[in-house]
Amino acid sequence: MSTPIPPAARRPSRLRLTAYALAQVAAAPLALLLLVVLVVGGALALLWVGIVVVALAVPASRWLARRHRAMAGAVLGTPLPDPYLPADGPGVVRRVLGWARDPMTWRDLVWLAWAASLGLALSLLAVLLLVVVVTGALWYFGIEPLMRLRCAVDRWFLVPGHTERLERRVQDLTASRAEVVDHSATELRRIERDLHDGAQARLVALSMNLGMAESVLAADPEAARRLVADARQSTVAAIGDLRSVLRGIHPPVLADRGLAGAVGALALDLAVPVQLDTALPGRPPAPVESAVYFAVAECLANVVKHSGAAHAWVRLAHRDGVLCAEVGDDGRGGADPGHGTGMLGVMRRLAAFDGTMAVSSPTGGPTLVTLEVPCALSSPRTTPSSGPA
Ligand SMILES: Nc1ncnc2c1ncn2[C@@H]1O[C@H](COP(=O)(O)OP(=O)(O)OP(=O)(O)O)[C@@H](O)[C@H]1O
Ligand SMILES: [Mg+2]
Repeated sequence: MSTPIPPAARRPSRLRLTAYALAQVAAAPLALLLLVVLVVGGALALLWVGIVVVALAVPASRWLARRHRAMAGAVLGTPLPDPYLPADGPGVVRRVLGWARDPMTWRDLVWLAWAASLGLALSLLAVLLLVVVVTGALWYFGIEPLMRLRCAVDRWFLVPGHTERLERRVQDLTASRAEVVDHSATELRRIERDLHDGAQARLVALSMNLGMAESVLAADPEAARRLVADARQSTVAAIGDLRSVLRGIHPPVLADRGLAGAVGALALDLAVPVQLDTALPGRPPAPVESAVYFAVAECLANVVKHSGAAHAWVRLAHRDGVLCAEVGDDGRGGADPGHGTGMLGVMRRLAAFDGTMAVSSPTGGPTLVTLEVPCALSSPRTTPSSGPA
């Protein structure tokens, strides 16, 4: 749901509406031209010339549609989203095939026909009402309904329908589910390796030491004592290893102190001073809490490893049903998820909860990583904290 806009801000003036109508009239010949070019280009798509024509005409038609989306958004009081699928990658043929698979391309095509015919008629009527002086009163009362009708039909064509939105959602969920399965498998392998190389290796050493101590106990009690002491050391180390594996699964500090407390504890251990603003009015669900904790931990590790920053900050907030964590630093910038595995891992982890990660990190800094996960908070159990760590 969009936040209600006060009526005065929502409604463009009658003169502005007439200017929109004029722009729509002026755009109609271009819409007709693009429609013809796209139909002819599409018909010739098996030849190179057709592909080139389509490759030039689709961006032009998208540009025109975007201008009309902006106008319809202003007239109807709700901005319309940019609904196109992301480009399929480099290469003209690939791009054209990607456009052909995007239902919005076909909707745009039908919209061009509307904008060049009945839509044009409506907008032209709106302009003529002002231009022909005797119809002044008609213009005064008629311009708004006329333009709302024109823009409502524009919106009907230019925004994906309910079924298309659901189809896209299913595609997104299928992709994120595959990533989660992949991520879980990787996590399981990591835990297996950690147990194998850490605790298991130490327990094997422990068992050997105890076996040797047993065999020399009668003959050489002093050697047996040393072996038992070594075995005790191995036990302590094995317990330490097990603890760190468990901490990697669900850090105890998170269970005890909640997200704000756990992030505070993380910040305390860092070489860079971290300013905290982590007031949360309640606790997110445990899996979200854990995902966001590890995401913040990775971002802070990146600050220490790559940024050369003198200061960093972490903000946690919950707004409009979305948990938002920001990690920033005043370092050299240039953070790029494509250049490592850490940030991509964070993206995958958050995608499992419909969450996103946005990175702003121009060369020279500052870097700001924004993590957002939609979730509800349960009753407050953590004390909000604010201030430098
Ligand atoms: N805060 C930052 N400031 C400057 N550069 C950054 C920052 N965070 C990340 N980077 C850059 O972005 C790249 C990608 O980070 P990412 O966490 O994905 O990988 P990584 O830290 O190099 O390796 P790992 O897989 O161990 O996390 C880093 O190699 C680094 O060059
Ligand atoms: Mg990293």
